[in-house]
Amino acid sequence: MSPALAASFFAAREDPSLVVLEGFHALKHALRFGAVVEAAVTSDPDELAELSAALAPDVAAALETLVQPVEPAALRALGFPRPPHTGVAAIARRPPFDLGGLLAGNVARPIVLLEDPRHLGNVGAVVRVAAAADAAGVVTTGARDPWDSAALRGAAGLHYALPVGRADDGFDPAPRPLVALDPDGDPLPAAAIPPGAVLAFGTERHGLSDALLARADARLRIPMRDGVSSLNLATAVAAVLFSR
Ligand SMILES: C[S@@+](CC[C@H](N)C(=O)[O-])C[C@H]1O[C@@H](n2cnc3c(N)ncnc32)[C@H](O)[C@@H]1O
Repeated sequence: MSPALAASFFAAREDPSLVVLEGFHALKHALRFGAVVEAAVTSDPDELAELSAALAPDVAAALETLVQPVEPAALRALGFPRPPHTGVAAIARRPPFDLGGLLAGNVARPIVLLEDPRHLGNVGAVVRVAAAADAAGVVTTGARDPWDSAALRGAAGLHYALPVGRADDGFDPAPRPLVALDPDGDPLPAAAIPPGAVLAFGTERHGLSDALLARADARLRIPMRDGVSSLNLATAVAAVLFSR
């Protein structure tokens, strides 16, 4: 492996315009949804060929052109203490995020708003289910970067399937209604969610802030068995998106 290739993976981790993708599925989804991939490696070309043929014939030609073989030990030298088990890693461009364009765009599809999520695995799982449910986008507030490598791992690269980015706490969801999902809300019949709503979910420990609840046009809950306090954040997002 060339020293320049190793240097490019370390540089990409420090460059806000780039991301490092880990694993075959992340690279497959990134290519399928239009990512610009700058470099890709595999430590197991035979497995990559099998996975491509079985799971990604639509991007198999791109994978064959892009991915260069490296020695298994090289993945550690690229900065993966626990290399992805498929032996695949890549560097891709992070697309720009246009919050105004997202809010003004297709107003029939919902936007998922995560208020100050703490667990990046949850953020990734939310991006994955939002992509599957054809939501318009995922917006987060707070300090965590929704494009962090841990979130990318949790989403299997599906960040490229829909706009994902950060907003300020007090961002204005207009022209869309703001719906707060909260265990103390009114019970949720699917019909209560207006088309194109911004669906707001709270932080893992404390739930939605009083400030957001005060601004919400509706406050809805997923009915649960007595004694259960709440659902996991990503599970709550999945239940709501697939109840529409
Ligand atoms: C782990 S829960 C937070 C629990 C927090 N102790 C609370 O009381 O809100 C994270 C988020 O998932 C959503 N959530 C979890 N269970 C829910 C339910 N049954 N109905 C509506 N939203 C729910 C809410 O948006 C909540 O803020």
